[in-house]
Amino acid sequence: MKKVMITGGAGFIGVNLIRYILAEKPDWHIINFDMLTYAGNLASLASVEKNPNYTFVRGDVTDTDAVNRAMKDCWGVMHLAAESHVDRSIDDPGPFLNTNVIGTQKLLDAARGHKIEKFLQVSTDEVYGSLSKDDPPFTEDNHLDPNSPYSASKTSGDLLAKAYHATYGLPVVISRCSNNYGPYQFPEKLIPLLINNAKQDKPIPVYGDGMQVRDWIYVTDHCRGLVDIFEKGRTGEVYNLGGNSEMYNLDLIKLVLKEMKKSESLITFVKDRLGHDRRYAMDNSKITSELGWEPQFKFEDAIKMTVNWYLNNLDWVNQVISGDYLEYYKRQYVER
Ligand code: NAD
Ligand code: TYD
Repeated sequence: MKKVMITGGAGFIGVNLIRYILAEKPDWHIINFDMLTYAGNLASLASVEKNPNYTFVRGDVTDTDAVNRAMKDCWGVMHLAAESHVDRSIDDPGPFLNTNVIGTQKLLDAARGHKIEKFLQVSTDEVYGSLSKDDPPFTEDNHLDPNSPYSASKTSGDLLAKAYHATYGLPVVISRCSNNYGPYQFPEKLIPLLINNAKQDKPIPVYGDGMQVRDWIYVTDHCRGLVDIFEKGRTGEVYNLGGNSEMYNLDLIKLVLKEMKKSESLITFVKDRLGHDRRYAMDNSKITSELGWEPQFKFEDAIKMTVNWYLNNLDWVNQVISGDYLEYYKRQYVER
């Protein structure tokens, strides 16, 4: 058995990643290490909680003792735990520095002590900053130029990971991915928020002029890429992953409203986000040529699947928003 620690496994991407690994990698044992912040939701993993290849540990990545206990005998670490919502980082940057910087450093230190054979730092296109309309997509060689407290904290985590590789020879690899969408995303992010509000005929808040561009990737494509990078990526390297689906926010919103047969009159322009990045786009050449990965889901199909998933799982959405699941699982799993 290959024992792998996944931090942040109760979050949106973590949940999808754990489901993917349990289905695809029968010889892996997953330790899901997650603090269960507002964004962590074990109800999304209820169907796998009795799987013998899966163990949940409630803990904080900034807690050295808890991290060391959970990492014992692990072959590798996939580090996803983070504060991840840009708007929250603008309201209060402190928790972002604590989890995304200090937490990453604590994990890197523990990984050295446990002689971890692969440490995957899961990062984001946002570390590269913002592109203009005609710029080519980001490659791994773009300089790092983050604009929000969230992306600055992720950049710091990436730089620490890189430094631990250069200084201590820790076998680190870094992935940077564009905006994900799919099942189990917390409904404060654009796509689930949009579906949920549209379903209830509530206004859809569009920041600024809505002409910001994001490169959308279906979460399963990202998860497959993370496993590829974890298994086959060269240590010390960075790999970009994007969905080859650049779109203006406004076009995306109109497309989803059309899919849901809702009126565009729900679109409500609101004050722009501070420091709002105009455009992200990813160049996948490196990961495609080295690891053979490319996105498989077409946006037109996967967005329909995503809309249907949220409409069929309104109980999940409502309970996540109300926090009921969280309180239930927090009582079950006291931090260790
Ligand atoms: P998320 O906010 O949905 O989940 C984060 C998880 O981390 C939650 O389960 C939360 O409980 C846990 N967590 C937070 N602080 C913790 C702490 N101190 N100790 C232990 N656990 C803690 O985030 P996500 O969207 O699933 O993103 C996962 C990772 O992928 C993040 O590192 C993020 O930067 C990166 N990423 C996300 C996207 C995206 O579009 N969502 C794109 C590229 C990269
Ligand atoms: P978001 O899902 O928060 O992801 P990120 O900020 O990491 O890209 O937002 C995606 C885009 O949608 C971003 O340009 C901000 C915009 N947005 C809105 O216009 N309205 C909203 O209510 C939200 C949450 C986001």
